[in-house]
Amino acid sequence: MSPPPRPPSRSTSRDLERYAGLFAARTRVMRSSAMRDIMSVIARPEVISLAGGLPDTSSFPPETFAAMTARIAEESCARALQYGPTEGLEGTKRCIAEVMAAEGMHADLEDMIVTTGGQQVIDLVTKALIDPGDVIIAEGPTYPGAVPVFHAYQAHVVQIDMDSDGMRIDLLEETLDRLEREGRRPKFVYTVPTFQNPAGVTMSLPRRRRLMEVVSERELLVLEDNPYGLLRYEGDPLPPLYRLDGGGYVMYLGTFSKILSPGLRLGWVVAPAPVLEKINLGKQEADLCTSTLSQLMVQAYFELEDWRHYVGSLTEIYRARRDTMLDALAEDFPPQAEWTRPGGGLFVWANLPDFIDTTDLLARALRENVAFVPGEGAFLDGRGRHSMRLNFSGSGEDQIREGIRRIGEVIKEQVALYGTLTGEEERAPEPARAEEPSPVEEEGGRVVNLPRRGGEDRRAGGA
Ligand SMILES: Cc1ncc(COP(=O)(O)O)c(C=O)c1O
Repeated sequence: MSPPPRPPSRSTSRDLERYAGLFAARTRVMRSSAMRDIMSVIARPEVISLAGGLPDTSSFPPETFAAMTARIAEESCARALQYGPTEGLEGTKRCIAEVMAAEGMHADLEDMIVTTGGQQVIDLVTKALIDPGDVIIAEGPTYPGAVPVFHAYQAHVVQIDMDSDGMRIDLLEETLDRLEREGRRPKFVYTVPTFQNPAGVTMSLPRRRRLMEVVSERELLVLEDNPYGLLRYEGDPLPPLYRLDGGGYVMYLGTFSKILSPGLRLGWVVAPAPVLEKINLGKQEADLCTSTLSQLMVQAYFELEDWRHYVGSLTEIYRARRDTMLDALAEDFPPQAEWTRPGGGLFVWANLPDFIDTTDLLARALRENVAFVPGEGAFLDGRGRHSMRLNFSGSGEDQIREGIRRIGEVIKEQVALYGTLTGEEERAPEPARAEEPSPVEEEGGRVVNLPRRGGEDRRAGGA
């Protein structure tokens, strides 16, 4: 008997109507992430993508990969193919403890859960703590991948400005005072303090200390998201918030994605026991357990190789790519643009004049076969329209140079067009340092203030 005909894979408006009545109300607040939207376009081989946050997996030795899989096949095949405990395998947790120790942190194995990427931690923490309308404090801009999660749980996200020293803790305190007067207590502060995605800036030590004082005075939780701490290209490491935490306020998110492989989908959370219990329940419901195969791959890798050596080689590659991008920006972007100079991580954040909308600019850039992430994807309130995130880890140096040249060209076209339309070509307009907040935006303030230190080249402010 022949199977019934399948509906066509592309939705017609009639299909949409048919299914619309079936969707849960929560799907109405779901949003696609800015990065994921672009992923399908940049898959075209002719496109130079400075959009994703892709690590250079081509630098991983295939013979090591083969040795890892051979070891699993010989020693733990049945186990690798089996379900595992929700909290993760003990051997994997020992590897995690080793990674955390490399940044000066100590974590007990029973205080951690191995997750399906760091992304799942953001989801599980938000699921455990947020009812619709509850407040989350985040940086402005924030990690674009967190934006759809916060939307889906209907959080009220208040974004705090950053400058070259990371989140402005003075503004955080003002915001907390205001929220308190309104009778609202944030459920947690979400921060990427080290080599932030997307802004590329790092929270200074005094601000880290002050943040920890503020959260302990006010009894607030912090979700510290730290995928990039080990990808440092200059300067001395700063202590993670987790290390400065004296009272169980920090929930720590780590991941193997940027130091080993995002394809393994392996991350972790370390959190106070009551929070960890809820995260565990949420994970049981989401996926029962993290892939045993991936966890054993990490264990095999740690047994066979010196993982720090690979991180060291990635650091060399990315430092050179960052320098290439910064040189290309200085060469090819017009004087009206400004950008950060990250001391580590994978991203540069650029602000353009406020007559340029980077979502529109992306359409033009794609015609030139180059992509970036428009800044709007890093805000929950429509700001960031004149900014862009540029990634330097996923492309070779020639591609970075060419990609920045092409983006520079489309920006210069816009600047020239603006000059022609307004007759202002002689006077360079100010870059979009401070967008006028609309009433809903007021509490969030402005887009990242780019570093402008006295006497220094204004393009070379520190991270
Ligand atoms: C700040 C931040 N958090 C979390 C993630 C999610 O990483 P993964 O789920 O691959 O561990 C990323 C990935 O780019 C990130 O940049």
